[in-house]
Amino acid sequence: MKILAVETSCDETAAAIVEDGTKILAYAVASSLPLHAKTGGVIPETAAREQSKAIIPVINSVVKQSRLSRSGIDALAVTFGPGLIGSLIVGVETIRALGYVWDKTIVPVNHLIGHLYSAWLERGSPPKFPLVALIVSGGHTELLYVEGHDRYKHLGGTRDDAAGEAFDKIARSLGLGYPGGPAIEKTAVSGDPSRFGLPRPLSGSTDYDFSFSGLKTAAVIQIGKLNKGRGASSVSKSQISDFAASFQEAVVDSLVIKTVRAAEKFKVENIVLGGGVAANKRLRERLKKRFNGNLFTSSRQLSVDNAAMIGAAAFFNYKPKKWGEISADASILF
Ligand code: KG4
Ligand code: ZN
Repeated sequence: MKILAVETSCDETAAAIVEDGTKILAYAVASSLPLHAKTGGVIPETAAREQSKAIIPVINSVVKQSRLSRSGIDALAVTFGPGLIGSLIVGVETIRALGYVWDKTIVPVNHLIGHLYSAWLERGSPPKFPLVALIVSGGHTELLYVEGHDRYKHLGGTRDDAAGEAFDKIARSLGLGYPGGPAIEKTAVSGDPSRFGLPRPLSGSTDYDFSFSGLKTAAVIQIGKLNKGRGASSVSKSQISDFAASFQEAVVDSLVIKTVRAAEKFKVENIVLGGGVAANKRLRERLKKRFNGNLFTSSRQLSVDNAAMIGAAAFFNYKPKKWGEISADASILF
């Protein structure tokens, strides 16, 4: 089955054609990230405006790449939430119109479940059930127990900020730019992760929740002390590297502790790591080291927002709808 999928939940406008949930036939992404880099974060209205400019060219590009005719595409899929409402509406309404004109069924996909399915697009053996999934992105940090396709239980999530959001904020405070995760990871390579003491909020609690706002505040206070009011430019390069490494370690510790605890409690041999923050090498390394089982991840390109994961999720959770039955929902969780 060949599914044409679209993802527009934030600042990426992405389309892909995926066969049987595992094979990418065509792939395209346009990003308004350079515009947001100037302002240090995503401005929803700018993101939505850029989505509407890019959506048709991106869909056109994957149809051309695949050389499929309209009749060769079996269904459409689209992210319906969670995300920025203005951005989501562009993808949902475009796919609704396409579904009407092409007379195709449409599979609405939850963005977070989409992140889980990046792991099915990698070569090699696909993830095995049951598994524990950590979905960690700019807007979410969620733990799931997954028994099979479309059979999952939400174990917990962040009570305040998402891990990616914390990376973005601290990178800004350190003058490292946006997006913060990759910038902190790069700067942390030469740093000492034990140089600065930072808290690991909720790591001792028995639930599966996370909290990053206390860590973020503690980090901002320490950066302020380093700057002594003179600005980030007065701090030495090695101090910035050490701080980035210490901060990254605190986030990674919090994520690894709860994920491994969930896997042990539910006696699973498999963990899937998905979402933009899953691209972080230190997180992958630490999880691999700490967990006595199989870790399934995806390449950086498929960890961050893309439409191939939406096409894969649609295939394995196939619930076709008509164009009139779908609408965007910015705040849905699961
Ligand atoms: O999943 P995603 O592409 O978009 C959302 O659904 O939010 O995730 C974007 C987030 C950003 O906060 C970004 O800083 C973070 O993922 N990120 C990383 C890395 N690459 C992207 N965080 C840590 N290390 C990375 N290498
Ligand atoms: Zn995402």
